[in-house]
Amino acid sequence: MSNYHIKHLEEYYQVYRKSIREPESFWEEIAEEHFLWRKKWDSVLDWDFSKPEISWFKGAKLNITENCIDRHLTTRGDKTAILFEPNHPDEVAEHISYNELYKRVNKFANVLKEQGIKKGDRVCIYVPMIPELAISVLACARIGAIHSVVFAGFSATALATRINDSDCKMVITSDGSFRGSKTIDLKGIVDEALESCSCVETVLVAKRINTEIYMKAGRDKWLAPLLEKASDVCAPEIMNAEDPLFILYTSGSTGMPKGMVHTTAGYMVYTAYTFKNAFQYKENDVYWCTADIGWITGHSYIVYGPLANGATTVMFEGVPSYPDYGRFWDIVQKHKVNQFYTAPTAIRALAKQGTDVIEHYDLSSLKVLGSVGEPINEEAWHWYNENIGKKKSPIIDSWWQTETGGIMISPIPYVTPTKPTYATLPFIGIQPALMDENGNELKGNQVEGRLCIKFPWPSIARTIWGNHQRYKETYFSAFDNKYFTGDGALRDEVGYYRITGRVDDVIIVSGHNLGTAPIEDAINEHPAVAESAIVGFPHDIKGSALYGYITLKDTGETRNHDNLRTEINQLITDRIGPIAKLDKMQFTNGLPKTRSGKIMRRILRKIASNETDSLGDTSTLLNQEVVQDIIDNAL
Ligand code: WTA
Repeated sequence: MSNYHIKHLEEYYQVYRKSIREPESFWEEIAEEHFLWRKKWDSVLDWDFSKPEISWFKGAKLNITENCIDRHLTTRGDKTAILFEPNHPDEVAEHISYNELYKRVNKFANVLKEQGIKKGDRVCIYVPMIPELAISVLACARIGAIHSVVFAGFSATALATRINDSDCKMVITSDGSFRGSKTIDLKGIVDEALESCSCVETVLVAKRINTEIYMKAGRDKWLAPLLEKASDVCAPEIMNAEDPLFILYTSGSTGMPKGMVHTTAGYMVYTAYTFKNAFQYKENDVYWCTADIGWITGHSYIVYGPLANGATTVMFEGVPSYPDYGRFWDIVQKHKVNQFYTAPTAIRALAKQGTDVIEHYDLSSLKVLGSVGEPINEEAWHWYNENIGKKKSPIIDSWWQTETGGIMISPIPYVTPTKPTYATLPFIGIQPALMDENGNELKGNQVEGRLCIKFPWPSIARTIWGNHQRYKETYFSAFDNKYFTGDGALRDEVGYYRITGRVDDVIIVSGHNLGTAPIEDAINEHPAVAESAIVGFPHDIKGSALYGYITLKDTGETRNHDNLRTEINQLITDRIGPIAKLDKMQFTNGLPKTRSGKIMRRILRKIASNETDSLGDTSTLLNQEVVQDIIDNAL
């Protein structure tokens, strides 16, 4: 029996029990047998959730890129590591072998060094889904620089906030990006962001769309000529197990986005291990995750997890609807994709197109289908199972978070029997707990509560960049000695978990986490707005969409509401990005508030979801009268 590769259900239970009873010896064995270390650890795990402090493999030394690239060269040098599929199907796909990846990462790493980047420096990567994105991530890791990838759909303001928060010395970007039929002026966004970032000394620019762009003298440099001159050998920086590998921002319910810090050894071990098992990856498989590397799914399951296993990982630049809704299936057929990992929002959008488009493509290579990012509804699950998997490919509904680094609850395909809408069983090493509102753990099956994790796993985020106190308050204060996920879940009669959704003010729109506070702040910047409240409501493709209740200032505002709506969505686009635009905006005379002045979102949520007959108790409201008015004018 190999603990590294689980093949049967009995094996799962056996290995799971071992990983819970003896977590240290379990992970030690995995680490020892499957990775390359420059020095072994002094201790496997040290932890204290009350501080919170967690360290795995303390004292060990390694470089993650040696594990993801160098060690494969003797056995898999010519194998495709990254298979780049461009936005437009007429442009040829690029097969980057492990040998070539080695050279390109090393060259890039040397360019970073030449430009003054050193171990521990933060580098912001604002690059579309082109090979330079993955390569720049790995180049940072090669020299020990901490990468902070910002999804290239974020606005200049959102980018600037993230650059400043982690004090990035460099930004890597491109002249622009292709997204379906659109081109986006990324460099223009960077220029605007940098007007408010004094920490950035250098901007490296990759060429993608070949347009004339402004290059600021002394600051902006084209990447290609620098790469050309650079040596393709760069000795890896030897890192400590707990040295930060990257920062990745995620939305919180309030305030600034949180820069989650992931460290080196534990993250590597856990993402590699979960990749192998959750996708049952075999040597010559072609694996495709449709996420963007700007999100955690892309970090863990396009770059690090697959490459640590010597896999072939597809990187797709485009969108599912361009040039038509057959694009995903065209790619599956063309590259004979074996494992396909996507988000429920994409599945719902594709399902809406009917099945005719699918029939043109040969999907017989598929063996495993994955879903991540939000609860997958039953209808979408069946559609995926029947039309894409032809009822032969198990669906892994994998639950996890930016903070968890890797998959936490998920079926293992061909091992765990699946059940629609259930993420099923905890992954090896993961100890979930469901808690009631009084902080008691709900034991046994058929219970529903708040989802916590009781014991550290190797890839848990170690802190929030620059704000350990917030890390403690957000994740370790709601329940004693437990990591609180912010999600609700239930456990069924056989112990399967079903995630029921967020229990805080984070709304997941098309798989993107959005905090309500920053959106409200953006709206409130409009001179006509007095205050606003955002809630989510069910949407057949996006999962949830945003509903804004907006009270205008009493200035005799006679402006056209349609114009106001456009202006407000423009403000949101400028401050956060188009993903945070509101689907519905209702102008109200007031917002329901408690006597202490807090907006009662529960009521607004019900109204937005058309559930006004179950509003619950409104007698504690300060201004009960606004509720009826809001109901009468609901959209
Ligand atoms: C939600 C994405 C239900 C959940 C990897 C979580 C899910 C948040 C699932 C994290 C799933 C993710 N079923 N809900 N399979 N996967 N979520 O940080 O609310 O972008 O807390 O990480 O997405 O989103 P994040």
